[in-house]
Amino acid sequence: MQDPGVRVYLDWNATAPPLEEVIEAMAETSKRAWANPSSVHGEGRRARAIVEDSRASVGALAGVDPRDVTFTSSATEANNLALTSALATREGAIITSRLEHPSITKVAERHASRARWVRALPSGVIDLEDLERALAQGPVAVVALQAVNQETGVIQPVREVMRMSQNRGAWLHVDAAQAWGKLAIDLDGVASASVAPHKFRGPKGIGALVTAPHVKLAPLLVGGSQEKGARPGTIDPCLAAGFGVAAKHAMDGPSRVAGLRSLRDRLETALVELGGQVNGSAPRAPHVSSVAVSKWRGPELVAALDLEGVACSSGSACSAGTADPSPVLVAMYHPERASSSVRLSMGETTTATEVQNAIDAFTRVLSRLM
Ligand SMILES: Cc1ncc(COP(=O)(O)O)c(C=O)c1O
Repeated sequence: MQDPGVRVYLDWNATAPPLEEVIEAMAETSKRAWANPSSVHGEGRRARAIVEDSRASVGALAGVDPRDVTFTSSATEANNLALTSALATREGAIITSRLEHPSITKVAERHASRARWVRALPSGVIDLEDLERALAQGPVAVVALQAVNQETGVIQPVREVMRMSQNRGAWLHVDAAQAWGKLAIDLDGVASASVAPHKFRGPKGIGALVTAPHVKLAPLLVGGSQEKGARPGTIDPCLAAGFGVAAKHAMDGPSRVAGLRSLRDRLETALVELGGQVNGSAPRAPHVSSVAVSKWRGPELVAALDLEGVACSSGSACSAGTADPSPVLVAMYHPERASSSVRLSMGETTTATEVQNAIDAFTRVLSRLM
């Protein structure tokens, strides 16, 4: 029996535990460089230096010039900013799919008359033939595609979609929130991409939109001239400091995370033996597993596992706390399977012992119904 005081955190896709160095950098900055980075005095310049340092680190992670990094409050805001900018400055449709995060799909819903929805395949990737059909229907302002799915970890065909979008002159926005620090990302030819540092051990409350040099942003907010007017509002140097440290750490994240594949496979093998079905058969990032367990509702299973010391989630990454089935899994399969699914996501500190503890907890919980 697992010591009830020992918790196993398998919800890294919701948010990752902040790195010790991130906490230290933020604490240090809040003591020494707390001023307004737009102020011209020495205190302001010290805060500005921290913000610009962070911008350079985010640019290095994304492979873009720091001038093409716009800080936002979150990846949600970055996604909204990219899509709204594309729709404001270009004619034509927004093309996306139900595999995307709500910060993409709800923008498309807001522009329903311009939205074209691409089918999701049960493997977890978008249907490229259906995308071709959607692209051929007329002018396209923007195509929005994620790099890695938040629920299943399925890797989307970004390069392929980039070529198809470029042929039609469309702005390709890549929601890469779940990919940084997990997989190498090639943004060549991509117009914009979003970054969420709290997914790679940085702070919440800050994010970034990285853009190709020619891209013009249309601000969502009106106010000051921060971020070259694209995103008014004072940037917190403390959050920026934490973001910068996390971005540097994420540079070699893919090599650390690759080792999780064997733990993930061990977990999945055990869950399949217990009657589970893995969601998503296309190539996946190594740290995530979405599993349907029939006879259970996802939220009930999450609650039962929580009592056994295991933190995981059901529903979409950011809808934890709602009982709605994940729209991603509904798009891939059907509401029934979506309703009985849970997501287990690991991170670089996850150990074999933790995975074994999680398997033991699942075994205890699932045996109650047998
Ligand atoms: C794929 C994806 N995009 C965007 C977001 C939103 O990120 P944030 O929490 O920074 O708004 C998330 C969060 O779960 C996500 O998984």
